[in-house]
Amino acid sequence: MDLLSLARAVKDRAQEPFTDLAATARIVADPRLPLLLVLNRTLFTPLYRASFLAAAAGSGVLRCMATRPCDLESLAAHLGTAPEERRRLRAWLDVGVRLGELDRREGCYRLRSRTAKALARAGNDAVAATLEELLRFHVPALRDAPRMLQDGDRFALSDQDGLVVARSTLVVRRLVEEAINKTLPRTAPVRLLEVGCGSGAYVRYAAGLNPRLTALAVDLQVEVAEQAAKNMAQWGLADRVETRHGDLRTLDLQPQFDVVTMHNNIYYFPQQERADVLARARSLLAPGGTLLLTSPCRGSGALGLDVLNLWFENARFGGPLPRADELLGQLRAAGFDGVRATRVLPGQAFRAFTGVNSASGPVGALPARSATTTAEEAVS
Ligand SMILES: C[S@@+](CC[C@H](N)C(=O)[O-])C[C@H]1O[C@@H](n2cnc3c(N)ncnc32)[C@H](O)[C@@H]1O
Repeated sequence: MDLLSLARAVKDRAQEPFTDLAATARIVADPRLPLLLVLNRTLFTPLYRASFLAAAAGSGVLRCMATRPCDLESLAAHLGTAPEERRRLRAWLDVGVRLGELDRREGCYRLRSRTAKALARAGNDAVAATLEELLRFHVPALRDAPRMLQDGDRFALSDQDGLVVARSTLVVRRLVEEAINKTLPRTAPVRLLEVGCGSGAYVRYAAGLNPRLTALAVDLQVEVAEQAAKNMAQWGLADRVETRHGDLRTLDLQPQFDVVTMHNNIYYFPQQERADVLARARSLLAPGGTLLLTSPCRGSGALGLDVLNLWFENARFGGPLPRADELLGQLRAAGFDGVRATRVLPGQAFRAFTGVNSASGPVGALPARSATTTAEEAVS
């Protein structure tokens, strides 16, 4: 090496730290960096956490790890993944570790965060299913709204997972049970029709309150009705509860029921058809029979309900969450007497609506007047 080259090499080496510092300064000075760092903390990471936890809960992985630490092999067996897919499974689990939800020690994964441990508990299944519903159905409602408007596209019932919804909807369980407590006769024999029964949990609750109650539980979605039938068998109620796949609007039944219940599903019907749907429910009640309908209502200020409302606004088959006065008008139009709306919990958007079928009157909805009558006096 000649003297000049040596001098250059020494100079280059001496300048290296300075060059690195300058490069770092240039990168750090990127005006987008502060925003990225803030979003990483406030949006990206919580979104990653929510997505990971929803998938881990929904796939049963959290429940597996709640019983014991699990190695890759046992988790793969639980998920039924092919042996050549182990690397992909590990990549997913390792992100869970990186997010602090899981821990990996001695080749085994275990639950680490309090949230992961809480979601793994059987008693919190409705909350875990709510997280899954949020990620799988609420996020697309927000994300795809502009595109759907542009394309004239709408959600179909098959865009929901009926089995997930049948579990998530049980987050309002205590509220529905309170409404049943206030309405259901306890000693007389009761023939109950539950429309849109979901898991069947409320038929089970009613059967527990009244040992002489028998019921027909119906759901529009075949997989939901099948799961409800399995639940009834597991709860020892198969001899008292018949479970059927069917649509309220086309059920071939006599007016034989003392009580008809509709929990959390009036928004599965278009707004302009609700009076007819309620008239149909009334036509299945014996004279003197009662309809109990529970629903979250619009305008509560609860963000989750606004997004649920958005989903159903964008649904091909349903409509917005009801307003209490509007639904009372529809109940009157359907021919119900003594209609009432009560808040199950003060200040909450969730309401119980009741109406009585006084007579074996007309089956169809009554025209105009009562449908548009507001009934604020009966709203509490
Ligand atoms: C949000 S889930 C509520 C399930 C259950 N009632 C609960 O509160 O846990 C609404 C259910 O109503 C059912 N449903 C909607 N329209 C229906 C119809 N026309 N006839 C019968 N069931 C219906 C859906 O299939 C779905 O399972």
